[in-house]
Amino acid sequence: MDARERLIFALDVDGADEAEDLVRLLAGEVGLFKVGLELFVAEGPAVLARLRRAGARAIFLDLKLHDIPATMRAAAKAAAAHGVELMTCHADQAGIFSGLDLGRTKLLGVTVLTSLGAEDLAAMGYPEDLRDPRALVLRRAGLALAAGCQGVVCSGQEAAAVRAILGPQALVVCPGIRPADKLGTGADDQKRIVTPEMAMAAGASHIVVGRPIRQANDPLLAAREVVEGIRRGLART
Ligand code: C5P
Repeated sequence: MDARERLIFALDVDGADEAEDLVRLLAGEVGLFKVGLELFVAEGPAVLARLRRAGARAIFLDLKLHDIPATMRAAAKAAAAHGVELMTCHADQAGIFSGLDLGRTKLLGVTVLTSLGAEDLAAMGYPEDLRDPRALVLRRAGLALAAGCQGVVCSGQEAAAVRAILGPQALVVCPGIRPADKLGTGADDQKRIVTPEMAMAAGASHIVVGRPIRQANDPLLAAREVVEGIRRGLART
């Protein structure tokens, strides 16, 4: 697989026009375009067809919905009916999707948001043995695997351990990606961050990048630099 196919660009914008412009600009460097809650809630499902017409070859619908099983199963089927390549559920709820026919849409279990650190998990009431994000990520990756998810979302810091549990075929998708000069300082609302090269070398199948490309002076150049990092990381595996 070409390194570009491993790059997922997060279309975290609130309007279809801006999203289409980004797709046109970046389609040559990006494998999948990720539509999250912001864009989907603002524009509705019609935005997906617009993005495809603008050049998006594959779409990741990242809704991370959380509700009772009947609601979640119905919502997952409705999301898959849009023909997206990837979608997410929360890994701790993955069991409720067991046996559900989602057609060609692959389901990823989100383990622990990359914006959360140990202190957040403590404040949320997790017991001491699960306050280490890695421990909770690994437990939830196991749940996602048992439920039949095709992969998980985790930070690059856990990618190697997750890969060891899930085996070589699973999708290991890592957000929380930042350039090397941001690693020591924290970045935006992300806490568990690594570089593109580090994530790929650790066993990620894909990385998710939003702001480091979108907010760059030259987003196309930034995307190309990320792809170079992916290549370097893959060469280390
Ligand atoms: O702008 P940035 O590169 O931080 O964007 C990361 C993207 O990855 C966002 O769209 C966010 O919703 C998503 N994401 C995440 N952490 C997860 C799952 C998804 O940051 N665990």
